[in-house]
Formats: sequence, structure tokens, C-alpha cells
Amino acid sequence: MTNLLVVETSPRGDFSVSRAMTRHFVEEWRAAHPGGEVVERDLARTDLAFVTAPWLHAYFTPPEQHSPDMKQALRLSDELVAELLAADHVVIATPVYNYNVPAALKAWIDHIVRKGMTLGFEGQGLVTGKKATVLLASGGIYTAGSPIRDRDVATVYLRLILNVIGIADVTVVAGGGAKVVDMQEESMGDFVAKLRPTIKQAAGGPM
Ligand SMILES: Cc1cc2nc3c(=O)[nH]c(=O)nc-3n(C[C@H](O)[C@H](O)[C@H](O)COP(=O)(O)O)c2cc1C
Repeated sequence: MTNLLVVETSPRGDFSVSRAMTRHFVEEWRAAHPGGEVVERDLARTDLAFVTAPWLHAYFTPPEQHSPDMKQALRLSDELVAELLAADHVVIATPVYNYNVPAALKAWIDHIVRKGMTLGFEGQGLVTGKKATVLLASGGIYTAGSPIRDRDVATVYLRLILNVIGIADVTVVAGGGAKVVDMQEESMGDFVAKLRPTIKQAAGGPM
């Protein structure tokens, strides 16, 4: 059975453009993968901690020496890593905040990049044989030809970190110019409908 992991980031619920992109993606993915399983990890509803000293202590202690407190410190990280490793395809839906990913998504990344689990001790990515799709909503437009293309840090960063953990097949669907939806110059439906062919292509490929 194929497994899709959906990582949602936006705190804006029904007003979120990236979440609307996800709904289209999941619809297309289900159509292309009948019987596939969809697992959702909603970072707006996950009690994500930033990296702390006890967390780091546990991280750098061999698992066979973990105390109950260390196990507890890594519990959420273990759970997030297990979700990622179980997936055939991971879709990350996210806003751009201050040219980069929101803090919640960065925190998720800090939890899933784990030596010996997703990253080898020689620095080789261990999350191989999977695809990733990034559904990015941004007020500005950063695609080729944009005068602010050099500010597209979120795309560069997400591609980089996914590549580092071993996911080479990364597709980015750029929902740029999403401020027209907030300014009510265009409906959410019309805005996302224009992205549908790209979303369908990202969702429909063979596993
Ligand atoms: C705190 C904050 C910072 C933002 N920073 C940027 C930015 O640097 N560049 C940009 O293009 N849009 C920026 N935006 C606009 C959002 O990316 C845009 O509203 C997007 O649709 C949010 O995603 P969502 O609709 O899924 O919540 C920012 C929005 C907020 C609330």
C-alpha cells in the first residue's frame, strides 16, 4: 500500500491558501493511488518544542543508554521520524514567512533530521526511495523572471534539507501572489484552480 504523509503548517484554517492547495493535492493523489493511505501531521495542532539541552543530551546518547527521561525527550521526534519513514510521498504545505519557512516547520525539520535514523553518520541521507512535494503559498511571486527571485529562500532551503536527508525527487508548486486572495481581489477557488494542473502532475506520478 502507498502512504502519503501530509505536513500542514498554516495556522489560518479555512483562510489558508496552502491548505487549499493540499485539498486539491490529496484529491488528485487519492484518484491516482486508490487504496493509498493518507496520514496528516498538522503542525498547527502539534505541541512542537524547539531544541533544548535535555533533547540534545538524549540525541547524542546512544539509544541503548537512554534513560526514561531521555526517551521522553525524544518521544515526539521519534514519532515524527516514524511518520516520515513510513511514507512513500511526503507533501509539505506551508506559507512563506519573512522569506523563509514558518518557525513551526523549522521545528519539525529539527525533529526529523536525526543521526542514525534519517541522516547517516557519514552525512548520507537515509530517507531514500521517496518523493516530496512542497505546496508553497506566498504573498509575493518568486518564480523565474521575478525581480525578487533572490529572496526565494524558503524553496531553496526546503529543497536542500529534503535532499540532505535523501529525498532527491522534490517538486515545488509555487502558489505565489496569494495576497490577491487576502485582499479579496480573487476567490480562493479561482486562485487555487490555476495551480490545479501543476498540483495534479505532482500528485499523479507513479510511485
Ligand atoms: C508573519 C507573516 C510573514 C509573511 N512574510 C512573507 C514573506 O516574506 N514573503 C511573502 O511572499 N509573503 C509573506 N507573507 C504572506 C504569506 O506567505 C501569505 O499570506 C500566504 O498565503 C500564507 O499562507 P497560508 O495562506 O497558507 O496561511 C507573510 C505573512 C505573514 C502572516
